[in-house]
Amino acid sequence: MTSKDQHNRILRDLRISVTDRCNFRCRYCMPEEIFGKDYAFLPKESVLTEEEIGRIAKIFVSLGAKKLRITGGEPLLRKDLPNIIERLSTLDAEDISLTTNGSLLSRMAVSLRQAGLHRVTVSLDSLEDDMFLQMNGGRSRVQPVLDGIDAAAEAGLQVKVNMVVQKGFNEDAVVPMVDYFRQRGHILRMVEYMDVGNSNGWNREHVVSKQELLDRIGEHFPLQPVAPNYDGEVATRYQFADGIGEIGFISSVTEAFCSSCTRARLSAEGKLYTCLFATKGHDLRDWLRSDRSDEQIADYIQAVWTNRKDQYSLERGLASDKNDPNGHKVEMSHIGG
Ligand code: GTP
Ligand code: 5AD
Ligand code: SF4
Ligand code: SF4
Repeated sequence: MTSKDQHNRILRDLRISVTDRCNFRCRYCMPEEIFGKDYAFLPKESVLTEEEIGRIAKIFVSLGAKKLRITGGEPLLRKDLPNIIERLSTLDAEDISLTTNGSLLSRMAVSLRQAGLHRVTVSLDSLEDDMFLQMNGGRSRVQPVLDGIDAAAEAGLQVKVNMVVQKGFNEDAVVPMVDYFRQRGHILRMVEYMDVGNSNGWNREHVVSKQELLDRIGEHFPLQPVAPNYDGEVATRYQFADGIGEIGFISSVTEAFCSSCTRARLSAEGKLYTCLFATKGHDLRDWLRSDRSDEQIADYIQAVWTNRKDQYSLERGLASDKNDPNGHKVEMSHIGG
């Protein structure tokens, strides 16, 4: 069991990025002009192998991690993803999930389920090709993603959909998305646009707040609050008053949830980050590639966690209007959100 961090938070979740590459170029994450063909992605030998991921995940589980989430970049670009999931599924974790852009999901859903994956969260910001293509850098139309979602549900995976809403951009997509996914029984989560990474030119004025979203959706589909599934759940839950479906709001800008943040993040090159907005990671790959024992690595992780003070979103809420009080942050594509 890990001890608690400086704000009394346990380590319960591990989010594992398995690659820093992606087949999309979303404007808010990997804009093409920065992540173009000359961009230096991690070389293969720098990225953790499936054995290393299995080993480090086992150590985290021994320290109390119960929820494991695979992220990227785009994790489905990794050919050995089913093997990685198989390794995770042998551990004593309660939940194994995956965050994906969904574009390659229809052909992989069955093998992921068979490997032991429980659920997927698919990112989708619009149902209109024009808007979606603008958002993902011209990389995918909507239909392959919807097909991926259908294939995942058919394969027996629980599906959630994340929608990031940007002011004056994809706001018109909100009501059609809500309607589409509630009809199909998938939980849509409306995500407030955040200042992650250093590349998206974030500005507070681009954020559509949870309250604005609640008002807008409530006009069409009245909502009632529902209690969280577990302490520290990221999304606040609502059900539709007509009994058809549920929706979530992830309001890290207007209602920070740092006080209950139990999430550790592992980058594809094996760095441990104790916050989505961290400026510095702790290298675990060196430890994995040395002759240190699992116990020694566990002690190191425990020491990092014990010192953890991060509460970026809370502090951003208290700070002035400008972006980024802390300097150069880790890129979203390195730790997958
Ligand atoms: P569930 O396990 O289904 O509850 O998923 P989740 O909400 O923990 O994870 P998901 O990957 O679906 O994340 C949804 C959105 O919330 C993404 O935009 C994440 O970047 C954001 N998010 C997740 N965890 C954190 C966090 O610790 N801090 C902040 N600021 N945002 C987070
Ligand atoms: N703000 C909020 N969410 C973001 N995501 C990527 N960039 C941002 C941002 N700037 C979301 C993706 C995905 C999840 C892992 O994070 O859409 O659903
Ligand atoms: Fe878009 Fe996700 Fe790829 Fe980033 S990692 S470019 S948010 S699909
Ligand atoms: Fe956790 Fe950092 Fe997000 Fe706060 S900002 S909830 S500490 S990851």
